[in-house]
Amino acid sequence: MSYDLVVIGSGPGGYVAAIRAAQLGMKTAIIEKYNSLGGTCLNVGCIPSKALLDSSEHYHAAEKNFEEHGIKISSLKVDMPQMIKRKDGVVEQTVQGIDYLMKKNKIDVYHGMGSYVDAHKIKISKSDGSEEFIETKKSIIATGSKPVTPDAFNYDKKRVITSTEALNITSVPKRMVIIGAGVIGLELGSVFARLGAEIEVVEYLDRIIAGMDSDCSKELMRSLKKLGFKFHLNHMVTGVKSGKSGVKVDVKAREGENAFTLDADYCLVAIGRRPYTEGLGLENTKVVLDDKGRVEVNDHLQTAEPDIYAVGDVIRGAMLAHKAEEEGTLVAEILAGQKPHIDYNLIPGVVYTWPEVASVGKTEEELKSAQVPYKVGKFPYKALGRARASMDVAGMVKILAHKDTDEILGMHIVGARAADMIAEGVIAMEFRASAEDIARSSHAHPTYTEAVREAALMATADRAIHI
Ligand code: FAD
Ligand code: NAI
Repeated sequence: MSYDLVVIGSGPGGYVAAIRAAQLGMKTAIIEKYNSLGGTCLNVGCIPSKALLDSSEHYHAAEKNFEEHGIKISSLKVDMPQMIKRKDGVVEQTVQGIDYLMKKNKIDVYHGMGSYVDAHKIKISKSDGSEEFIETKKSIIATGSKPVTPDAFNYDKKRVITSTEALNITSVPKRMVIIGAGVIGLELGSVFARLGAEIEVVEYLDRIIAGMDSDCSKELMRSLKKLGFKFHLNHMVTGVKSGKSGVKVDVKAREGENAFTLDADYCLVAIGRRPYTEGLGLENTKVVLDDKGRVEVNDHLQTAEPDIYAVGDVIRGAMLAHKAEEEGTLVAEILAGQKPHIDYNLIPGVVYTWPEVASVGKTEEELKSAQVPYKVGKFPYKALGRARASMDVAGMVKILAHKDTDEILGMHIVGARAADMIAEGVIAMEFRASAEDIARSSHAHPTYTEAVREAALMATADRAIHI
């Protein structure tokens, strides 16, 4: 077979690239080494983690808040196997949706490991041991990423686990140690904390979700401590030993002599992910990797081999599904002769804890270090009627605007439904709106979005109405 475009990897970067290319008239194929399409995101990432976050949040709300709402439940219990079964059902339905989209767009799907024979010929090694060869004018590497698991942590997939295994634990652990206070650690830690596990997090840096605005880190840390999280900031794990029924995690302060050992049922390693290029046969092409093992690309996401492009987690930038999707679309459109563009500053970041954290644009720390003159507008959730009605009063909206022009430079939200609300910030910034533009737009009452308007009022004129 011969194609206009072959995409290797069927995650959000790969399958979206394939669909867009097919829409633009290219004869397209996609290769996926696993039996199900959708990549990390649909199978062991975004979708299953959100399914468990939602289930555990329902349980937690029932346990902690229902009585105050006037709802009494006499025997509340966690049925973990059922929770996992529902999660698996959500994943299955979602990946079947991708099968449907491939058929609808007449994209040929190959299951097997794809590897380059040369820049225009790709071998597919199938699970039954057979091989198939296909030819293509162009191709996209969309092979994603894998968790970082240093040897000293003795990752055994049983007691020392990554997110992949954590999504399938079938009884609530008593105690879990999490290495890394990034997105995965805090999201999956929340799942188990809500279900009753004791969570201890060891983080190398001096704050949690370190890439986000520091006000968000503080707000989230306060909420997670209330949920029962214990944090060891400025500490690192030097080694993990696992036995049949538990783990011992050796922890040491970054500076000074403080050292101790934590015992737990599980140790979740969540210290980042690395690009995945093993077995791709890149040595048979001119594709170059950078010092972090990422496929090197130019602004058009083209590798050093002109007919091979790369998108998503396997290249530089945030490891996010929607970033990968934007890049998949961009490459397909470039191949069709269009001139698309991605503004990476406007890719939002979300942490699906409760309260959620969502952010777009520059943080206050970034504006300070770039010496950009800015104004800050903040509004707390507790001043919102909507938040009081639902008992979700933790959080705030923070808007950063240019001091002279009033242009919005960043929006940072901690609170209920922040993940959905950040879209207002993205759109406003896409249109280069001023804080006054948002402040003068009607926001329905009572909604959480009123906090965005009030924060904009604070940023533009220091005059919120409700505080
Ligand atoms: P992937 O989704 O990793 O897909 C790559 C695919 O390529 C895989 O299916 C792999 O099997 C296949 N492949 C690799 N090599 C070959 C080969 N040689 N031949 C054939 N196939 C191959 N991001 C968000 O934006 N929001 C979230 O809520 C979110 N939650 C997450 C939760 C968890 C627990 C994890 C682990 C990640 C989460 N992410 C989230 C990150 C998100 O999953 C990734 O950014 C996204 O999946 C990257 O997409 P991709 O297409 O680059 O790669
Ligand atoms: P991360 O990069 O978000 O966080 C890793 C944390 O571990 C950092 O705070 C880092 O300082 C710390 N760390 C690193 N080495 C350490 C050590 N030896 N000891 C102690 N702490 C250490 O990585 P994470 O959480 O593994 O997530 C991987 C990727 O998956 C992220 O880049 C994220 O973009 C993506 N993801 C996105 C989600 C979302 O969008 N909601 C959800 C889950 C994952």
